[in-house]
Amino acid sequence: MSRQKQPLDLTDVSIPTHVAIIMDGNGRWARKRGLPRQAGHRAGVENLRRVIDACVEFGIKILTIYAFSTENWGRPESEVRGLMRIFRRVLDQELDELHAQGVCLHHLGDLSGVATDLQKKVLHALDLTKDNDRLILNVAFNYGGRAEILHAVQKMLADDISPDELTEELFSSYLFTHGLPDPDLVIRTSGELRVSNFLIWQAAYAEFYGAPEYWPDFGREELYDALKAYNRRERRYGLLSEP
Ligand code: FPP
Repeated sequence: MSRQKQPLDLTDVSIPTHVAIIMDGNGRWARKRGLPRQAGHRAGVENLRRVIDACVEFGIKILTIYAFSTENWGRPESEVRGLMRIFRRVLDQELDELHAQGVCLHHLGDLSGVATDLQKKVLHALDLTKDNDRLILNVAFNYGGRAEILHAVQKMLADDISPDELTEELFSSYLFTHGLPDPDLVIRTSGELRVSNFLIWQAAYAEFYGAPEYWPDFGREELYDALKAYNRRERRYGLLSEP
């Protein structure tokens, strides 16, 4: 059954350039329905499609999603295997549509820790979509904020960067998000209010929005509510309010 899209008023809504999402609550969504956790992850993928479409509709230029953290390897092996199966399937079945939609895929994280066939699929997707410019979709996959910072420091040491050369800009250029603006808005679904090692450098001045819905239920209208809440915030970057 296709649901009629409710018209949403975007006049006077300032659209953040970069939105980042911690897609939390797939497991609880499934449990509430007496379903296995994998069904929650599958519903999460379907929802990601809706949210990508909404980002394009709202004119958001960069969406970063937390798909799999360095800590997620510690989940039961069957769940990890199920998640990897989902990522493979998404790359096989959704890539052409994402490409046609003008989505440019970026990967944040360490691909070397991932199965070779999956690495190949990711690299193919990055290459296929590299010239698209409608929406940049950063997929944090085998990603951890602390690991990213260590990785950046290791690369800087290997490049013989001296302490007096080091600036915040230079440091940022060594992160997986190099060349991209920091997130303006970080959303976490499922009512949890934690950062969980996500973009810990880049989100220093992001506005944080906690959504009560589990990720599979966080759709276009809920993203619109998050944008409206973002518009009510005053971003001060450590300064004082305008008089
Ligand atoms: C959190 O739910 C979600 C994840 C572990 C990430 C998996 C995300 C998806 C499958 C969405 C689609 C992503 C891509 C890139 C295809 P949880 O398992 O932590 O939920 P819980 O806290 O309720 O147990």
